[in-house]
Amino acid sequence: MAKAPLQFTCTSCGARFPKWSGRCDACGAWNSIVEEAPLSASGPKGKSLGGAKGRLIALTTLATEEPPPPRTCSGLVEFDRVLGGGLVPASAILVGGDPGIGKSTLLLQAVSAFARAGLKCLYISGEEASAQVRMRAQRLGLADASVNLGGETNLRDILTTMEAERPDLVVIDSIQTMWADSVEAAPGSVSQVRAAAHELVTFAKSRGVSVILVGHVTKEGQIAGPRVVEHMVDTVLYFEGERGHQFRLLRAVKNRFGPASEIGVFEMTGMGLAEVANPSALFLSERGQPAPGSAVFAGIEGTRPVLTEIQALVAPSTLASPRRTVVGLDSGRISTILAVLESRCGIPFAGLDVFLNVAGGMKVTEPAADLAAAAALLSAREDVALPSDLVIFGEISLSAALRPVSQAENRLKEAEKLGFTQAIAPQGTKVTGSDGMRLRTLPDLVTLVGDMFGAG
Ligand code: TYD
Ligand code: MG
Repeated sequence: MAKAPLQFTCTSCGARFPKWSGRCDACGAWNSIVEEAPLSASGPKGKSLGGAKGRLIALTTLATEEPPPPRTCSGLVEFDRVLGGGLVPASAILVGGDPGIGKSTLLLQAVSAFARAGLKCLYISGEEASAQVRMRAQRLGLADASVNLGGETNLRDILTTMEAERPDLVVIDSIQTMWADSVEAAPGSVSQVRAAAHELVTFAKSRGVSVILVGHVTKEGQIAGPRVVEHMVDTVLYFEGERGHQFRLLRAVKNRFGPASEIGVFEMTGMGLAEVANPSALFLSERGQPAPGSAVFAGIEGTRPVLTEIQALVAPSTLASPRRTVVGLDSGRISTILAVLESRCGIPFAGLDVFLNVAGGMKVTEPAADLAAAAALLSAREDVALPSDLVIFGEISLSAALRPVSQAENRLKEAEKLGFTQAIAPQGTKVTGSDGMRLRTLPDLVTLVGDMFGAG
């Protein structure tokens, strides 16, 4: 029998290669490629009907009389929203995040809420002993929820228990601790994580059980990250936050049952995670007197408007190539904005260090933040504070023209609700009936510079 060829897999992104190398070509991670045991020793043998033909598949049409399966809402509003409006029966969900960010806390709270909503829930912890989970539940005031706890890492035993108990929802904390006896590799390796996730998801789907898999984001080494199972599940959520901040964002990056890029906002307190119903108020709560370098951006996260403060600092540099430190925004876009300011508006940033960050540990990925970032940079450079009741949004093109962005109405409405009275937006922004808001629309960045800071 021919020996199966060796296979090498990146533990960070799951890309496969025929030979080992120090750096993954797919995601750029260093030292992340490991040898993997091939799943089948023989591999596929030609394509034909085979000696014994297979069964015919029963095909159906798209039309159906059946109503869609009912979703279950946990009552944890932020969590339900990110799922796309509650839990879909027999769905597979991955919750990824850095170790210690609060995934176990979030899922313990969610599973207790689902249990109170009438689902039969199973919480399998491969990381903590049941006593530890129970202690945390007690501290969070969840001890009365009827959740079945189990401390187990053997996949075969977990599947057997699922078959016997027939729960509606199973949480696996975490997928990296599970091991399936069908694969000879250490728990946490790419082939183990992939095999365990595949078995769990297919078994759960065939029995009508929803599963939530917890996956630690790993920076390097031999442990597989959650990205290797992303393609197997229906919904991928990432739990993010800065260590020093108490805000936590649950972000949907893939969702077969709802909008992607939806966010849920939580705050880590001494009593577990508290939901934040009005994130804008929270992100703007630390704003003091109007100061140079601060601009408020009216953004959209998923389906919801969120206001954030963009802060800039510009200082003379002693370095040959000055610093460009960007936190919470795309540094590539900021470089572009600096280049546009320099070559189209005649505002040089050479010889100046530039620091830019989004207050509150929020990450902003929308191009609509361009104009607010440019205003913050200008305000910092010219040492002029922007009015404290002003919000800004708009995309900047390479010609310095401003492009209108989506959902302008929602952005303005949210700003008005929080007491803002002026807005700057690109020309062509369509709005109807906002009386409390003075909207100025500008054709390009040069007009903004001339308007606010005196030309050039
Ligand atoms: P945890 O859920 O164990 O993180 P993960 O499962 O993602 O590794 O959360 C760990 C952190 O959360 C820990 O540093 C302490 C903090 N925490 C609180 O601040 N308040 C609480 O009520 C709880 C339960 C945890
Ligand atoms: Mg944990």
